[in-house]
Amino acid sequence: FRLVVLISGNGSNLQAILDAIDTGRLKARLAAVISNRADAYGLQRAAAAGVPAEVLAHGDFADREAFDAALAARIESHEPDIIVAAGFMRIFSAGFVDRFAGRIINVHPSLLPAYTGLRTHQRVLDDLGNGGAALHGCSVHFVTGDLDGGPCIAQATVPVLQSDTADSLAQRVHVQEHQLLPQVLVWLSEGRVGYDRDIAMPDRLTL
Ligand code: GRF
Repeated sequence: FRLVVLISGNGSNLQAILDAIDTGRLKARLAAVISNRADAYGLQRAAAAGVPAEVLAHGDFADREAFDAALAARIESHEPDIIVAAGFMRIFSAGFVDRFAGRIINVHPSLLPAYTGLRTHQRVLDDLGNGGAALHGCSVHFVTGDLDGGPCIAQATVPVLQSDTADSLAQRVHVQEHQLLPQVLVWLSEGRVGYDRDIAMPDRLTL
């Protein structure tokens, strides 16, 4: 079971995958880590674990399609079963998503379909003061053409406290991400989770 992990930054989710492989919990080979940013700390995590790490800077390409074509070629060269977007801060083009349908997953810091997009923790806190839910969390989902909208595989929840800041809430969510993402990869590696293009995320979730 071969993986390619895409990152843009710190790579704590990448670390969780590396640790799960290291302990034998996840029986997989991490074929490569690819970052769109040369300064991503996750590249050092990959190097420390002896995993090939590559930088593909999106600024070097004329447009999203050109970058995605180059990224797809790099990914294919490693022949992964699953591609993991783990804090990869780029929106994929339709062509890219079609090519890898059912083989690419993403970890998102909210209980999707609530809070797609960015700054999820602050938005949850803002809403808490306006009668919003005191429940937050993270989702691992298949990537499709809908931004943060592909079929959800698993979610984990955390409480939202009155005393929370965006940072404290993010930290609590991160702990869950680091459990959930390797767990989903174990399920995928065991063939216990599959992609069905007819199943979509519900449009709306009422908490
Ligand atoms: C995580 O919160 C993830 O849900 C989001 O980006 C963050 C990446 O963190 N997509 P890290 O780089 O894995 O530490």
